[in-house]
Amino acid sequence: MNDFQDWARSQQQRIEARLHQLLPAPDIAPQRLHQAMRYAVLGAGKRVRPLLAFAAGELARARPERVAIAAAAVELIHAYSLAHDDMPCMDDDVLRRGKPTCHVEYDEATALLAGDALQSLAFQLLGEYRLTSDPAVQLDMVKLLAAAAGSRGMAGGQAIDLEAVGKALTVPELEFMHIHKTGALIRAAALLGARCGDGLDGKQLAQLDHYAKYIGLAFQVVDDVLDAEAPTATLGKTAGKDAQHNKPTYVSALGIAESKTFAEELRRDALAALDGFGEDALRLRQLADFIVLRKF
Ligand code: IPE
Ligand code: IPE
Ligand code: MG
Ligand code: MG
Ligand code: MG
Repeated sequence: MNDFQDWARSQQQRIEARLHQLLPAPDIAPQRLHQAMRYAVLGAGKRVRPLLAFAAGELARARPERVAIAAAAVELIHAYSLAHDDMPCMDDDVLRRGKPTCHVEYDEATALLAGDALQSLAFQLLGEYRLTSDPAVQLDMVKLLAAAAGSRGMAGGQAIDLEAVGKALTVPELEFMHIHKTGALIRAAALLGARCGDGLDGKQLAQLDHYAKYIGLAFQVVDDVLDAEAPTATLGKTAGKDAQHNKPTYVSALGIAESKTFAEELRRDALAALDGFGEDALRLRQLADFIVLRKF
């Protein structure tokens, strides 16, 4: 596991450095917007989606410098989703990654535009850099990220989340919401990492997708649990806000203990999906453990 921590730290440094270079410099006009974009992305965050892209890229024997671009694109979309998620019209949060949220540090209009521009930058990267030797595959990757971020992916899940405030959702409804708002980008991260290489056939890509679907759902189930039981200081975001804002979550539907059991089942399902892969999937297995057992 220590070996995992070393691996994760080195990949986190790799993605941090790449994001630093890929984001517009803070002294280029419009400075305030560029500063807000950098503020929303750099300096903290677990970088789970990039880690998944790198782990899947290793499995598919992809070149790490190509995977880094795909990983950066997904992380930019994720950071945009957080900046918007925190705004007063959505979850109205003041703390993110241990710092004031983007709209608190800057202002609402700037946070909105920073999110917009981060999303555009993500797609610009996928158009600008060569990610695979086959241009048709690269085009598929653009479509994959667009679908994952859009109304039938993350943005759609966020719309469902907002409509659900104050309501009690059934477990299937919660699952539908979670696999969209959070699962879609996690799946995209794994698949984009893998598609930078050509080491996996269609059946293996489908197995990887199964794994990612399980851990994507597990990720948000654990997020719901942590919101209910972890302290603000370790979370880096205000604890207890789901209950405070009347959000239906796995915790409100099943309670904490049963939600944890469910996350553990999802972890086992995710690991089972990797059965055919052998040692090459070590990092993906360790990431499943990290996602379910994390404390922040
Ligand atoms: C938080 O995501 C929002 C969800 C989708 C649950 P993360 O827990 O990955 O946040 P960071 O990137 O580490 O801050
Ligand atoms: C956010 O879910 C999912 C996103 C797409 C950003 P949450 O609203 O539960 O995420 P946190 O708890 O604010 O990080
Ligand atoms: Mg939210
Ligand atoms: Mg939120
Ligand atoms: Mg949450």
